[in-house]
Amino acid sequence: MSDPVPQDAVPQDDGPQDAVPQDAVLQDALPQDVGVGTVLDHVREPEEIPSAGIVSFRNVRKTYNVGEANAFTAIDEVNFVVEDIEGKGEFVSILGPSGCGKSTVLRLIAGLEPQHPPTVGEVRVMGRTVERPGADRGMVFQDYTSFDHRTVLDNVAFGLECRGVPREEREESARHWIGRVGLSVENDQLKYPHELSGGMRQRVAIARTLILRPRIILMDEPFGALDPTTRLNMQDLLVDLWREVEATVFFVTHSIGEAVYLGDRVYLMSNSPGTILEELEVEPPNRPALEMQREVPFQETVFYIRDKIATLEEER
Ligand SMILES: Nc1ncnc2c1ncn2[C@@H]1O[C@H](COP(=O)(O)OP(=O)(O)O)[C@@H](O)[C@H]1O
Ligand SMILES: [Mg+2]
Repeated sequence: MSDPVPQDAVPQDDGPQDAVPQDAVLQDALPQDVGVGTVLDHVREPEEIPSAGIVSFRNVRKTYNVGEANAFTAIDEVNFVVEDIEGKGEFVSILGPSGCGKSTVLRLIAGLEPQHPPTVGEVRVMGRTVERPGADRGMVFQDYTSFDHRTVLDNVAFGLECRGVPREEREESARHWIGRVGLSVENDQLKYPHELSGGMRQRVAIARTLILRPRIILMDEPFGALDPTTRLNMQDLLVDLWREVEATVFFVTHSIGEAVYLGDRVYLMSNSPGTILEELEVEPPNRPALEMQREVPFQETVFYIRDKIATLEEER
């Protein structure tokens, strides 16, 4: 193979290796380590792992208002798979320019209309096609979604109440989770949502979801409305809780730092119709948010993604 081949005897793109400038090779050499992350050489597809995975998208397209004048394809050719890791769910962050279809992806996993069902392709959870919402998937939104007329205790216990769990049992469990999300059982359990700060209300929303022990937690910009300090505190809280509940988390955010800090894996989406452009594996958050987010390798990963997103936003 080392015999020199005349340049014009072979098609250009099959040409000898040393015809390609060295720095071009280096630039395209993926997987590529970037700070605390690694950019995979391609986005993994469902066929590539031996098991069904906990969540997989196979060639998924969502067109809103099909057949009407305002038909709009929000996502297309979305393929990915998240593995079901025994006793430890992954934390998957989803980033991308606004309007690229992040919420569409999340709500398809949740089985919520009108995102569900997909126009083309298949969304699977634990090997089965998603047909409707289910107790195996819990969702936390940006907007505070507690019931105004219920106390913190009754909001957190709501899901168990729906399941017919007796009062004493569900209230005991609710008190446990009120404590676990950093609220005070003594001072807060009888408060109403309007008596709480934004951060406290999101703690209630998280407790209300976790009490049902879902295998999959879907979070759509849950800290988007919080001030920076509260946000960092919530990030640390989420890391602790997530270790305890061993769920797989899908976390949509506009904050690149938040995505890189919390994520084991980051999906970067393209402009609409959104598809997954890149998959990064990143170091788990093993120190406080404020500390890790200051470090140079962490910043390197953040800048890499920031540049990609800036380019995407310019291209729109
Ligand atoms: N129910 C809907 N009907 C029509 N278009 C929608 C609907 N939901 C979202 N879209 C459009 O689909 C695109 C993707 O939306 P979304 O998933 O909310 O994006 P993101 O969460 O990334 O900002 C946007 O252009 C949005 O306007
Ligand atoms: Mg959204």
